[in-house]
Amino acid sequence: MKRPHVIVETNYDAMSRRVAALIDAAIRVNPNIVLALPTGGTPIGTYAALVDLHRRTGTDWSRVTTFNLDEYLGVAPDHPESYAHFMQQHLFSGVNLPPERRHLPNGLAPDPQAEVACYEAAIEAAGGLDLAVLGVGTNGHLGFNEPGDHLTAGTHIATIAEDTWRRNFPHLAREVRPGQHGQPGRSGTPAERPFRQAYTMGIGTILQARAIILLAGGTSKRAILRAAHDGPVTTRNPASFLQLHRNVTLLLDREAGEEA
Ligand code: PGA
Repeated sequence: MKRPHVIVETNYDAMSRRVAALIDAAIRVNPNIVLALPTGGTPIGTYAALVDLHRRTGTDWSRVTTFNLDEYLGVAPDHPESYAHFMQQHLFSGVNLPPERRHLPNGLAPDPQAEVACYEAAIEAAGGLDLAVLGVGTNGHLGFNEPGDHLTAGTHIATIAEDTWRRNFPHLAREVRPGQHGQPGRSGTPAERPFRQAYTMGIGTILQARAIILLAGGTSKRAILRAAHDGPVTTRNPASFLQLHRNVTLLLDREAGEEA
């Protein structure tokens, strides 16, 4: 079995520059590359470094195609918490990627199941993902493929795990008692709460990418990364499914990578 290639950089900035350099080089080798892209705190430095490389060296994004891993259901693209807004702010406004080549599920799609099918079909029509760039949750989630009894292969609508929801929305979580999320029918129910569901690429969509780079920093990711790398392949740790792929690079800072 081919093990993932592990690169450990000294700190967050070095990790971000290294990931950006790999993506930038991949675009130069294949100007028509199809990328899957993450959101979250971790890739912000990577996107800043990619914009910097574009400005300084003129890397051409005009024929690149991007598909984001996920987007919140029921949230407008111009909502400040939407991933469409995040991508605009951190990457799309800084590189020459034509708007029609940027893809995120439409949070306001009138028919969510049709949107799911449409997103998967768009990835197929683009020729599949050449390079999937991933973050990972402290619970091992990839995109919003959360730990559980099963995983879903294709793009689908996922319920966001309570710990993920609390981590992503600490300001909202302060108003809700632990344990309420995911339990419909109680006061302040999840159904009334925003950001409880999301479109996400499935684990199969991700694993069909020709190459995968997972970036992670900080001590909070260390245990789950170690389990994903050395433990069993289990739906309890979606990142462990990366063991099934032949071309995975784990790009970590020292805090995350010490024991990976
Ligand atoms: P983070 O999120 O980069 O904010 O840690 C990663 C993830 O949840 O996938």
